[in-house]
Amino acid sequence: MTGTLTFTMIKPDAVEANNIGPILAMINKAGFKIEAMKYMRLTREQAGQFYAVHKERPFFGELTEYMSSGPIVAVVLRKNNAVADFRELIGATDPSKAAEGTIRKLFAKSIAANAVHGSDSDKNALAEADFFFSQLERF
Ligand code: RTP
Ligand code: MG
Repeated sequence: MTGTLTFTMIKPDAVEANNIGPILAMINKAGFKIEAMKYMRLTREQAGQFYAVHKERPFFGELTEYMSSGPIVAVVLRKNNAVADFRELIGATDPSKAAEGTIRKLFAKSIAANAVHGSDSDKNALAEADFFFSQLERF
């Protein structure tokens, strides 16, 4: 087992648009190994816990409503330099500013419905993986 972890969610807009498969294919092609994965729907409260750092932001209500609006795919990924390389693969938060060829440029609908989540640090990647998965679900 080499490398570091990151955590991603395929968000409700990308699930609804039948883009789970194409997004997972891009993730695998970029060299990430899947360490854990599940298909589930978050309650509004769970979405709020996950995005607790954004509690005071004006978009928090919209964010938690949106993230609980339909099923998501939660995935723990492993690769060298996983956090930074994954954020490069997904592109900017606002898809209109995302680079060509990135997941958000290809699949995101708007700044809120932006197809995927990506951890922003090694510490948060571990915390986010633990939020979704027990040790028995990690390989
Ligand atoms: P994420 O955490 O989902 O990977 O996204 P990120 O790091 O690129 O962006 P972040 O600042 O952490 O924001 C988390 C999510 O909140 C939504 N958002 N909406 N309406 C808005 O102005 C706004 N700004 C952010 C996005 O869904 C963003 O991914
Ligand atoms: Mg973030």
